[in-house]
Amino acid sequence: MGKVAYFVDLQPDLEDFLSAVVKGFSSSRKSLPPKFFYDAYGSQVFDRICATPEYYVTRTEIGLMKDIGAEIGALAGPQNVVVEYGCGSSLKIHALLEALIDPAEYLAIDISKQHLINTVEEIVADYPDLRVGAICADFSASFDWPPEADQSGSRRLAYFPGSTIGNQMPAEAAQFLISVRRLIGEGGSLLIGVDLKKDIGVLNRAYNDAAGHTADFNLNLLRRINNELGASIDLSSFEHRAYFNAEKSRIEMHLESNIDQTVDIDGRTFSFKSGETIHTENSYKYSLAEFSELAEKCGFKPRKAWTDADDFFSIHYLDAR
Ligand code: AVJ
Repeated sequence: MGKVAYFVDLQPDLEDFLSAVVKGFSSSRKSLPPKFFYDAYGSQVFDRICATPEYYVTRTEIGLMKDIGAEIGALAGPQNVVVEYGCGSSLKIHALLEALIDPAEYLAIDISKQHLINTVEEIVADYPDLRVGAICADFSASFDWPPEADQSGSRRLAYFPGSTIGNQMPAEAAQFLISVRRLIGEGGSLLIGVDLKKDIGVLNRAYNDAAGHTADFNLNLLRRINNELGASIDLSSFEHRAYFNAEKSRIEMHLESNIDQTVDIDGRTFSFKSGETIHTENSYKYSLAEFSELAEKCGFKPRKAWTDADDFFSIHYLDAR
């Protein structure tokens, strides 16, 4: 079996959970960052969400990746160095590696060390002849091409699937795109999955699945506060709320207190009015044109964008300008 060629640990600042909770709960509009959804249990629940009939996102993107594989391969040409941001579902990276002609290297970037190790080991096992490396880094911060990674000057193809870019406010998304553009350099490209604006009923149902997995995912933040920070929040005193905010073109997820209550965390007391919410996630939805325009402002030239038959999801292939 092959080996991981390099593992660069840039030691990303892992914002600790307690400081994030105290900060988020001290604000007049309470919030928590969505990255804290993904502990071991939350990651499992996310997989359940992806399998619900209402959550079209993941299955639509994987289907589309398979359909357009040959076109991606032709656009990218041979010998690309594939750089995956936030190594996610192995189905998607497999679809990409299958589509490419003789890829030169696979470089995974993720903030979670364990997740990164699991991903690269899986890719090494499945593609024994491919050079595989990893950088443990916070990809919202900008960093340089590591000396351990390919130095042959092969074309760099960044891959950012899952519409994870939708978690960022448009201004942050722009900063991120600029840092990707810098990392891939002249001649590089970006393949990115972006969820589309669509019928509000479809959107609202996708974040309110009937089996309740999205509610469980959202409430997992409170479960973590209880288990990890010694609180004793009654989970039934908060309700999952998710709705499309048309003005901002985003799904918002909140946890709404259904009573007046106080919550004690690590010696501090936070009070909630009945109906008050903790804002836990944004998931921005773009039109094809809006996303292309954003990418163009950030140093990219749109080459091609594909959508599925229902126009639910898009994949953009962008060249560095
Ligand atoms: C992983 C950020 C793309 O926004 O659709 C799914 C997360 N939240 N259901 C999304 C999520 C609730 C998901 N992303």
